[in-house]
Amino acid sequence: HQATVTATINDQAVEVNPGETILEAALRDGIELPNLCRVGGCGTCKCRLLQGEVTEMTETGYLLTEEQIAAGYILACQSRPRSDVRIAAELAADVQGTRIDGHIVQKQMLTHDIAQIDVQLEDKIDYRAGQFAQLTLATLPQATRSYSFSSPPSDEKRVRFAVRRVPGGTFSTRIVDEDVVGEKLSVRGPGGDFWLRPGTEPVIMIAGGSGLAPIYAMLQEAWQRGESRPVTLLFGARQCRDLYYLEELRALEKTWPAFTFVPVLSNTDSEDECDKDWSGAHGLVTDFIDEHLHGATSAYLCGPPPMVDAAERRLIDKGIAAERIHADRFLTQN
Ligand code: FES
Repeated sequence: HQATVTATINDQAVEVNPGETILEAALRDGIELPNLCRVGGCGTCKCRLLQGEVTEMTETGYLLTEEQIAAGYILACQSRPRSDVRIAAELAADVQGTRIDGHIVQKQMLTHDIAQIDVQLEDKIDYRAGQFAQLTLATLPQATRSYSFSSPPSDEKRVRFAVRRVPGGTFSTRIVDEDVVGEKLSVRGPGGDFWLRPGTEPVIMIAGGSGLAPIYAMLQEAWQRGESRPVTLLFGARQCRDLYYLEELRALEKTWPAFTFVPVLSNTDSEDECDKDWSGAHGLVTDFIDEHLHGATSAYLCGPPPMVDAAERRLIDKGIAAERIHADRFLTQN
C-alpha cells in the first residue's frame, strides 16, 4: 500500500500520488519546474533534495557531477518520493522554448524500424544542429516526446526528425506504422547542450542506432560551413538493415576531404545476404576508437547509454579531457 506524500517545492506544497514523479506532480499542480526531455536525458529538471527520500528511476550519475550528487541534486523527472520531501528548484519561466505548430509533409522509412518525417512549420525555429525538440501530434496530445533534429538549421521553416519504433510506444508506433502525412504536429524547443563546438583540432563522433540523427545534422552543418578540421564518424548498428543515411554519408565522404566515415556492424551471425557480404568493420564501435582516433581532442557521442558510457571511458583512457566529450544519451521512449 502506497500513500500520497507531499513535496514542498520552494514554498509550495504539492500532493504526489503513488507512482508519480516529482516533475509530474509539480506540473499537474501548475508549478513550472524546468523540463525538456522528461526521460532523464537532458538534466534540465535538476533540483535539490533538501529533505526526505526519493527512488530514482534511472542512473543519474552521468548527468550530474559528483559534487552535485553530493549536494543532493536529483532529476525531478526521474524521482518518485518515498516520503514527504522538500525540494529547492529554480523555476524558470520559459526554458522550453516556443511552441511552433506545423504538419507532417513527408515520411520515409529509413530502416525497418526508423521513419524520417519532414515537418513544415508555421514559423522558423532557431536551434543548433545536435539539439532536440519536443514533438506533439495534435491527435495524441498526451504523448509528447523528445527527438533530435536530423537536419541542420536552414532558412526554410522545415525540419526533419528520425523516429525509431519502440514496441508498444504510443507516439513512435503511430509515426512509424501509420500514415501520418498531413497530420498536425507541434515542435517545442530547442533543448540540450549537444552541438559542435568551434575549433581546429580533430574531432571524433560516435553514433549508435537512432543516435545518428543529431550527429548527421551536425555533419551536414559542418560540411556546409566548410569545416576543415578532420572529423571521423564511427556509426554502430546491429545489422545491415539497421544502417541508414549510408549513401548520404558515403557521398559526404567523397565531397568533404576532412571527413572519414566508418560504419560498424555488431551482429556477425546473421543469415541476411547483406550481412554475409559485409566487408566493413565488425564488432562494437568502441573497439574501433583507438584505430580511428587520429589525434582527436574532442568527441561527440550519441546513442544508447551503455554504448555512450563505454565510449566515454575509452576516450578518457586515450587522454581526451572529460569536458571535451559531449554526449547525448538516447533513452527508450515510447
Ligand atoms: Fe528531466 Fe530532462 S527533463 S532530465
